[in-house]
Amino acid sequence: MKVMIFDTKPYDRQYLNAENKNYGYKLKYIESKLTPDTARLAAGYDAVCAFVNDDLGAETLDALENVGVRAVAMRCAGYNNVDIRHAFHKIHVVRVPKYSPYAIAEHALALLMTLNRKTHRAYQRTRDANFELNGLLGFDLHGKTVGVIGTGQIGRCFIDICRGLGMRIIASDPYPNKNVDYPYMSVEELLPQADVVSLHCPLTAENYHLLDKAHMDMMKPGAVIVNTSRGALVDTAALIDGLRSGHIGGAALDVYEEEADFFFEDHSNEVMQDDQLALLLSFRNVIVTSHQAFFTHEALQKIAEVTFMNLQNFERFQKDRQVYLDNEVCYHCDHYGTNCPKKEGKNCF
Ligand code: NAI
Repeated sequence: MKVMIFDTKPYDRQYLNAENKNYGYKLKYIESKLTPDTARLAAGYDAVCAFVNDDLGAETLDALENVGVRAVAMRCAGYNNVDIRHAFHKIHVVRVPKYSPYAIAEHALALLMTLNRKTHRAYQRTRDANFELNGLLGFDLHGKTVGVIGTGQIGRCFIDICRGLGMRIIASDPYPNKNVDYPYMSVEELLPQADVVSLHCPLTAENYHLLDKAHMDMMKPGAVIVNTSRGALVDTAALIDGLRSGHIGGAALDVYEEEADFFFEDHSNEVMQDDQLALLLSFRNVIVTSHQAFFTHEALQKIAEVTFMNLQNFERFQKDRQVYLDNEVCYHCDHYGTNCPKKEGKNCF
């Protein structure tokens, strides 16, 4: 197998190279993102490997198909950046559905704690021998209500953590978990009750701007938003208005709608060209991290492990079409639900 790996940093290469010792695939690392322009570099490769901010729209998928690529291995869980409908019957897309839900849930907690107790500001102050407490007032999380939107792998871990803190948990998910000790409700019922709203659902066409102005208006005054899922779940303009008016008490964001232009790169020597991001960064009650929730040793190890298993599976599938691609992102699942051949243990195509 020859695999071209896009959008890589030294830390990606370290983990992928270590895992490749078990496989011996021919890997070519590319620092640039996968785009319609860079896709043609993959000529002669069997598969490409891509990440969260790569562009896997129709144009890129066509370009990949034209140069003979038959599989895309996403080294992430989310796949909102892949045009699955367009990939159908052309390119098999596999992903890493579960690597370390703990990594993301724990980062959501770190963001929430920092935002609430302002440890980032305290750290700066004490280093400058400023031991004042003015402006650092927080609130007890114990006894507060957390509204968890999306109770899959990560949402469930986050709920366990919040339970440990003594928080009251309420949840919203179109596919509720059974036998749980927290109530499910619609997003509209959840928002007015929650002191903290944490997003743990995937980004889909249906929930784009799930937290828009109307939904933010429903939130409890002073409530805080934690988003470690995908930026476009939150309407940034509405969030800025809510923060300015004081209706939203704070936002802890590991993701941002337009992050692809900035995140994972050093822009510290440039004038910030994104007005909304510049505003968010200027607010005292906003914390932005650069899509780093996944960034733990355990998660990177697991991502490498599953990515190579996915590639090996695809290699076998090319020889025997009956081989099942466990982690395929399936067009039928997304678009036809119950008619999906995966339910009978068959591949998407
Ligand atoms: P999962 O598939 O286990 O769970 C997602 C849950 O969201 C499912 O139970 C689903 O029914 C629910 N859901 C779907 N649409 C919903 C809606 N409109 N409202 C409420 N619930 C909805 O996924 P997992 O592993 O928990 O990941 C969740 C998301 O976290 C991923 O889709 C990805 O966007 C994000 N993520 C972020 C990372 C980071 O580094 N910041 C790393 C990994 C994932």
